Amino acid sequence: MMLFRSLAAAALIVVTTVLPLPALAQDDEPRWSIAIHGGAGTIRREDMTPEREAAYRAALQQALDAGTRILEEGGSALDAIEAAILLMEDDPKFNAGRGAVYTWEGAHEFDASIMDGRDRDAGAVAGVTGIRHPILLARKVMTDSPHVMLAGQGAEQFAAEQGLETMPPEWFGTEARREALERMKADKLSALDVDIKFGTVGAVALDRDGNMAAGTSTGGMTGKRWGRIGDAPVIGAGTYADNRSCAVSATGWGEYFIRVGVAKSICERLLMVRNFESTSAGLRATGPGFAQILADSVMDDVKRLGGDGGIILVTAAGETLYSFNTAGMYRGRATSAGVSEVAIYADEEQPSDR
Ligand code: GLY
Repeated sequence: MMLFRSLAAAALIVVTTVLPLPALAQDDEPRWSIAIHGGAGTIRREDMTPEREAAYRAALQQALDAGTRILEEGGSALDAIEAAILLMEDDPKFNAGRGAVYTWEGAHEFDASIMDGRDRDAGAVAGVTGIRHPILLARKVMTDSPHVMLAGQGAEQFAAEQGLETMPPEWFGTEARREALERMKADKLSALDVDIKFGTVGAVALDRDGNMAAGTSTGGMTGKRWGRIGDAPVIGAGTYADNRSCAVSATGWGEYFIRVGVAKSICERLLMVRNFESTSAGLRATGPGFAQILADSVMDDVKRLGGDGGIILVTAAGETLYSFNTAGMYRGRATSAGVSEVAIYADEEQPSDR
């Protein structure tokens, strides 16, 4: 299957480089779309109670609706993804902001990034503590500093200068995350044994002006130490947005996503195709399955190296899609075509987003 997908992706790239694609009529109404995730991993029906599952679906729908409202009203992709991520950062069910996993020393260290597809401006923070909304800090790095990535104490000093809200350590903690750290230490387990799902949050969007944005926020992996940083704040690994191709946010085993450069690889492959057709209609002409094949081929690469997780993606043509190689991924998507759905398990049917 993996081989088939890779060959299919290669074949499609070759075909589209040789054969000009027919132009399609542009839609009259500018389209918008948004996709969100709340982590991927070993998320199985048999481990869920109906109440817990309903709580996750409601939280995802709330985050999706927050982004949707902004896009419906003509707001920007950046504002839409920020609105969705803010809610998930405050929700202890997810591993970002409140409810984040514990480091080896029993602290919470956050990574986050944001990217503007218009000019590929970006902001990221790594290993920061006490910041209620790391995604807001990442956005401030993008808009109010000359840099792309700030880390640790320097980032916290910048946050204070920018007036970012802070919270005491106990505000971020939950019993379940504390128990996971203790179990990891007592039984000499790896983070993957105790992090039954990764829980990173993210959002990607296309607004009515054709602009895309991506953002990702996480507490990382249980028991991380030595200043470990995952993929979430690494532009090109956990987050990428480029109006010419797509916007991607990732969740999963960060080391592999960094090694593969997942988010940028997907956008680069889509850009290759678009380079041979100057309008978004060209990309659309290849059909809704095309972007999926390219995203799956990059995720297959992650799998081949031994990593797992998933991505969400929106294309310049307004498609929204997911690709993940885990039992489940907390996810949702909405579009101007009337789609609004959330899902958890891999086997859940995904109605067309077009
Ligand atoms: N994907 C989140 C992390 O590895 O930290």
